[in-house]
Amino acid sequence: MRRDFQEPARCRPDLVIGHEDLFAAAKDHLGSGGSVLLHGPAGIGKSTVLRALAEEYGAHARTVLRCSATESESHLPFLALADLFGLVLDEIAPRLPAAQLTALESALTGRGESSLQRDGLALRLAVLSALRALATQGPVLVVADDLQWLDPASAELLGFAARRLEGTPVQMLCAVRTEGSDSQEYDRHLRACPPGTAALRLGPLGRAQVARLLDHRGHGALPRSTVREIHRTSGGNPLFALELGRALADSPTPPRPGEPLPVPTSLRALVLSRLDMLSVEARRTLLVASAGARPTTALLHAAGRENAEAECAQAAELGLLATEPEAPAVRFAHPLISAALYAEAPAPERRAAHAALSTAASDPIERARHLALATT
Ligand SMILES: Nc1ncnc2c1ncn2[C@@H]1O[C@H](COP(=O)(O)OP(=O)(O)O)[C@@H](O)[C@H]1O
Ligand SMILES: [Mg+2]
Repeated sequence: MRRDFQEPARCRPDLVIGHEDLFAAAKDHLGSGGSVLLHGPAGIGKSTVLRALAEEYGAHARTVLRCSATESESHLPFLALADLFGLVLDEIAPRLPAAQLTALESALTGRGESSLQRDGLALRLAVLSALRALATQGPVLVVADDLQWLDPASAELLGFAARRLEGTPVQMLCAVRTEGSDSQEYDRHLRACPPGTAALRLGPLGRAQVARLLDHRGHGALPRSTVREIHRTSGGNPLFALELGRALADSPTPPRPGEPLPVPTSLRALVLSRLDMLSVEARRTLLVASAGARPTTALLHAAGRENAEAECAQAAELGLLATEPEAPAVRFAHPLISAALYAEAPAPERRAAHAALSTAASDPIERARHLALATT
């Protein structure tokens, strides 16, 4: 008998575009009894891929336990534990020693003031015994999304059990949000997973894949140049691409040539908090950079931004710019940052930026373009 808890019957898994290599690697690893941790930035498709893998691989397990942490509830102790074990408690209860069962029940119900300090050992052993008990009936798959928000008590208990389950058919399939491109941010989350868990990073979608995604979600009629622009601005991030597509569909007037795509409020929030940390002058300098086609510090100087170097350095420290040492080009860390900066600036400031660029740019066509955008 297969037991799948928590998830309401899904009629059809989401369409997953791309990630063929990652799927192959994940299935390989799961197929040989290992565990998998997917990681990558917000919106890149972790939950989508996690669901698809769980759907497929869960069919091999007798018991699928799920939890999905949320930011707003990450302070509630044992919440993930309750999600994972709440529905199987009746099944495992007769198999747990009394002290462990009492500790687990009071943690899961929130009654009896259970805490890691007070019931630490009993709780740790209870989670271990519970997983072992389930595993004697058949393979167990633990599917945990958004590990970054897992309450620390649950993370600790899960990690304790995960390190002691070798040789038992308990596997984990997890996802965690990481921001940096080459960071080891997920290391800390590997501690909640069994030893030898494969960490797989989700990369961006290519242009043709973004086009397929937009098509699949009802934005199929967009001109190719717009799709190219959406791909560029989104950096291949499906969530960003879909939001940009939606904002374009909602916008009464399409952007004029040379103007960045409209960035919806939903996405601005992702980058604006960091923009708010810039000084007013540095922000203005970045606005000029966002309006320019291929900004360099020399161009910014010519456009009247005297302290461009120092201001760009400040922006790079905040992770807004990804400037390479010695390189003259001013590069935004993500195209969305540039587009959001532009979208957020009041119209007179945008016009002023274009006016400055209309005299600073060396290319006559670009000058004409800026002149047009400076006066309308
Ligand atoms: N490979 C993909 N194929 C199709 N749709 C995708 C893909 N990746 C992401 N999406 C869509 O993009 C949005 C964000 O994906 P999600 O899985 O929630 O990202 P994450 O969990 O990494 O924040 C969702 O609407 C999802 O359906
Ligand atoms: Mg997600």
